[in-house]
Amino acid sequence: MRSAVTPALSPLDGQAFLQAGFRLHERLHLLAYRLDERRTHRFMQPESHLARSEGRTLKPGRPWHRRVVLDIDRRAFEPFWQFDTNSLSEARRATPTSHYRVALEKGTPLGYAVTGRAGDRGYLQRLAVDPDVQSGGLGSALVHDSLRWLNDRGVGTAMVNTQERNTRALGLYEHLGFRRQPEGLLVLRWDAEQ
Ligand SMILES: CC(C)(COP(=O)(O)OP(=O)(O)OC[C@H]1O[C@@H](n2cnc3c(N)ncnc32)[C@H](O)[C@@H]1OP(=O)(O)O)[C@@H](O)C(=O)NCCC(=O)NCCS
Repeated sequence: MRSAVTPALSPLDGQAFLQAGFRLHERLHLLAYRLDERRTHRFMQPESHLARSEGRTLKPGRPWHRRVVLDIDRRAFEPFWQFDTNSLSEARRATPTSHYRVALEKGTPLGYAVTGRAGDRGYLQRLAVDPDVQSGGLGSALVHDSLRWLNDRGVGTAMVNTQERNTRALGLYEHLGFRRQPEGLLVLRWDAEQ
């Protein structure tokens, strides 16, 4: 084995890995959205974010969307964070129930989101929009759709994490009402030749 990477860990959980020789790969912000404080608000209208772009809709992700979805993911993320078919399936299976939505224009995906639910907690597992159409409201529409799906299932808090340097995603989440948590997460790695 040449290298190993941890999932996102709390600083406390990361200590044992650091002592074992892992080193910091990336710091993540952890953000929370309290759905239980906003149940009565009419804040989740994904379609309103699509108003600027006629003909775009949100639909359940289907197997035939996968190729374009993974291409969007590849162009939206730097190599370390890119998904392949396995990681997309794993993200969908990471929680007991999940919600996979694609933003479509004339049947072609322009973005997608995977949201998971485990009991009272919701997780925005993945979000990506085609770099050619970013800043057009699709990211907001997909996040609102995720929040609405979680809200309909009585979830109390939705969580998301993002790289500290991902100012764009951070701006989007905070703009929509997510609050940064005091303690973030760490991704650690171990390399054979360090
Ligand atoms: C993050 C991402 C999904 C946003 O998608 P998008 O379609 O561009 O999002 P929107 O157009 O809905 O932006 C919504 C709002 O977010 C905020 N926002 C967007 N870019 C921002 C920036 N650079 N700084 C601060 N706020 C920003 C703005 O309030 C924006 O409103 P606007 O339309 O008035 O500019 C997209 O940039 C992306 O795919 N990035 C790469 C993958 C990634 O980082 N995914 C998230 C990982 S956690």
